[in-house]
Amino acid sequence: MTSIDSLLHEYRRFPPTPEFTKNAVATPALAEAAAADQLGFWADQARQLHWHTPFTQTLDWSNAPFAKWFGDGTLNVAYNCLDRHVLAGNGDRVAFHWEGEPGDSRSLTYAELTAQVKKAANALAALGVVQGDRIAVYLPVVPEAVIAMLAIARLGAVHSVVFGGFSADSLRARIDDAQAKLVITADGGWRKGKAFPLKATVDAALDQAPEGTSVEHVLVVKRSENDVEWTEGRDLWWHDVVDAADAEHEAEAFESENPLFILYTSGTTGKPKGILHSSGGYLTHTSSTHRNVFDLHPETDVYWCTADVGWITGHSYVIYGPLANGATQLLYEGTPDTPHPGRWWELIEKYKVSIFYTAPTAIRSFMKLGREIPDAFDLSSVRVLGSVGEPINPEAWIWYRDVIGGGSAPIVDTWWQTETGGIMVSPLPGITSLKPGSAQTPVPGISIAVVNDDGSEVEKGSGGLLVVTEPWPGMARGIWGAPDRFVETYWSKFAEQGYYFAGDGARLDDDGDLWLLGRVDDVMNVSGHRLSTAEIESALVSHPMVAESAVVGADDETTGQAVVAFVILRADHAESQTPDEASAALRAHVATSIGAIARPRQIFIVAELPKTRSGKIMRRLLRDVAEGRAIGDTTTLADANVMQLISEKFAAVPATED
Ligand code: WTA
Repeated sequence: MTSIDSLLHEYRRFPPTPEFTKNAVATPALAEAAAADQLGFWADQARQLHWHTPFTQTLDWSNAPFAKWFGDGTLNVAYNCLDRHVLAGNGDRVAFHWEGEPGDSRSLTYAELTAQVKKAANALAALGVVQGDRIAVYLPVVPEAVIAMLAIARLGAVHSVVFGGFSADSLRARIDDAQAKLVITADGGWRKGKAFPLKATVDAALDQAPEGTSVEHVLVVKRSENDVEWTEGRDLWWHDVVDAADAEHEAEAFESENPLFILYTSGTTGKPKGILHSSGGYLTHTSSTHRNVFDLHPETDVYWCTADVGWITGHSYVIYGPLANGATQLLYEGTPDTPHPGRWWELIEKYKVSIFYTAPTAIRSFMKLGREIPDAFDLSSVRVLGSVGEPINPEAWIWYRDVIGGGSAPIVDTWWQTETGGIMVSPLPGITSLKPGSAQTPVPGISIAVVNDDGSEVEKGSGGLLVVTEPWPGMARGIWGAPDRFVETYWSKFAEQGYYFAGDGARLDDDGDLWLLGRVDDVMNVSGHRLSTAEIESALVSHPMVAESAVVGADDETTGQAVVAFVILRADHAESQTPDEASAALRAHVATSIGAIARPRQIFIVAELPKTRSGKIMRRLLRDVAEGRAIGDTTTLADANVMQLISEKFAAVPATED
């Protein structure tokens, strides 16, 4: 393989303002200290946590790639997120302002959250939960989801949170793989104006078990008026057991490497993998990056990360990082457009959110609807914006900063993965001069390189494969029950160099800043040029007509592969042109903005794109359509009908030649 060709260039720069820099959490001194002594930096960051037994060894890499961080230290993760803030006199600080989709709300202070978690821990212990047990959590975004995760952590047990949108089959597979002893669910959760059933799905999952199940009890949170079936002896109401539990619970200390959670990732390809994370290193990495990347001032900021707790972003940047830092957060149960399309902006206004973290897919869907919607709300409290999950194209970046960030909020484009545990690449607000569309630099303590297939580093100005060259504290400790698969998937490609292979392409620009190019599996080869999906998509979205796009490579007799694009138009352009006119204009636009080589062979105007439930585009399915194959496995799609509509459209249009 040759390196990835890089075509798109972006010259806008946004240096930090002096006012921001003056009060910034991350300082050049911190970044320099980390660069000079990486292990020393992480040890310092770890010492900001409470250790029951202080560690003496920072990293043990003798059994690589299975790391031990702070191996001889002991701590309790929940104690670090709760009790210690109360003991420091911050018990009255709000931990969560929670808002339900129907408009009900609750605020929980650190003292209240601590009290709830202690009771829940006692209740779980009374049901026989002990250190090392696996507990499946299948809940909507309600305070009980936070309480349950922290109570499990407090006991040294292991949670496996399964996103509430997953089916009975997916839940079943995850329960079985982890051999979960208990499931915590709810009678419903609000989404798009309806209480969707969760308990019924748990019942279906457990009923499918002809050979029995590892699950002894199902704890049910009451969140709706949905009727639920009840299996006597197995099913228990959360409020019955938690309300009756003892109020006092002393947090026991566990080894730093005690497993904290399993999180299954299916991503856009392949069979789910139970990514395993442990305690001390993970909490160090997530709390350090949360402070430094988001410039957290816990006394004054209101932080909102829109991710569901069922995803890694919810684990690291709703639960563990922010709570370890004593942050005040907003937690919202529902969808962005219920009961009206301005719901998120209304919430920012209501709670005076100052730090806002979301995904490019959400930003682009708001762009599609038009800026009048957010413009109707007072968003002046916003001072830092974050992006995660996909490359953010420069146009969406500028829109985000202008419309949501008042034209001045720094945007941190954070690159990381379920497997990395925490943020790996991101600008630091207050230090970095921002480039729209670039994730820019490894965060303090992290070493990244862009390499060719043989592991040699690419030159500046070129694209290649993103690797992590040194171990880091938040790194996955394996795949549950499949250590060989862990080594094979992430560590075998560059075994000789000992690099972690992330599976993403990246470009290093002339300043040495990183530009993420999408999954390497999606790279196209057009007439011998290796083109990334991200750059062509970005070029398409830079046209005022386009809200979203997805690009794939399809077999082509002449060029090997040809670029095929699927495009969603912005609401105000959707009707002003015929699809043929729009597609011709966009093909020409790509050719002028990045070059004829990238001009799509075909462009399809579609109403929706196939996405996973966490909002990532499933290009593999679009490739099936573009190459005329039967569409592959769609079980991880958020909306299965989307592919039906797209393939009908594709079948009706002949290939364009020129
Ligand atoms: C992609 C989400 C570009 C990438 C935290 C990665 C990104 C995968 C970015 C991990 C970003 C995440 N720019 N691409 N800022 N952030 N990705 O496990 O392809 O759900 O490998 O973790 O998302 O997705 P995951």
